[in-house]
Amino acid sequence: MTALVGVFDSGIGGLSILQALRTELPQSRFIYIADSGHAPYGERTDAHVMARSRAIMAELLSRQVQALVIACNTATAVAIEQLRADYPDLPIIGVEPALKPALAISRTGCIGVMATHSTLASAKFKALLASLAGQAEFVLQPCDGLADAIERSAGSNDTSGIQALCTQYTQAMGLFGSLSGQIDTLVLGCTHYPFATEPLREMLGPQVQLVSNGPAVARQTRLKLSQRVLAAAAQPEALETASPLILLSTGDPQVLQVAAQRWLPPLPQLPAEPLFLANKLSV
Ligand code: DGL
Repeated sequence: MTALVGVFDSGIGGLSILQALRTELPQSRFIYIADSGHAPYGERTDAHVMARSRAIMAELLSRQVQALVIACNTATAVAIEQLRADYPDLPIIGVEPALKPALAISRTGCIGVMATHSTLASAKFKALLASLAGQAEFVLQPCDGLADAIERSAGSNDTSGIQALCTQYTQAMGLFGSLSGQIDTLVLGCTHYPFATEPLREMLGPQVQLVSNGPAVARQTRLKLSQRVLAAAAQPEALETASPLILLSTGDPQVLQVAAQRWLPPLPQLPAEPLFLANKLSV
């Protein structure tokens, strides 16, 4: 399926979604914007996140994207409804904390949710939680600073900040394990947090399942593209000659580049793909 898809996040976190998108849609091209110059979103006002989402959306539209993936729980919670109202003809796909998949696999019925302050405080998240009322106990943990620590570790390889915050926040949530009353499923409700999987697994043990939404978002994107974009004329020539992935950052492009080299596995379908090269963007 050939299409040009715009993807954005407050930083490198959305690479966890982009990875799933590339696997699901190997023929598509992607433009990824990390808004690291204006992050973290999760600890800023809704007005800031709305304004940044609009600015990035305008930039991606000027580059002719045919669909938009908001690879950020916080920006989805704050801005997706407004963006869909502003651009009714564009497929816009968002990401929300994976509460429903967690519910399907939890045996103790006790589910932890790590997310940003803004996501947990949003009306969208509260509505999601209310729709599942009585089906499980959800232990909500805002994780100030964790997305930022993950950004910094990509540039420095020093994971001590991630370790310290994961220890602090998981301890605050209570007991993890497979016994009654213990948290056996942990939702990673911010797209940065899958990059803390290793320390979290070490801390919580193998009986705790970590859940995130990348593959589900990728499947949803494929569905929306097949409904809307593929009905329009394909542009095979342009797609064949163009770069399959453009990486742009409003912060330090080196951080995005290092993170992409580390976390985006090369696609077997694209053996000739050059090393990732991220560029600076001013919007
Ligand atoms: N990656 C973003 C999310 O999924 C937010 C990180 C931040 O606070 O900027 O919510």
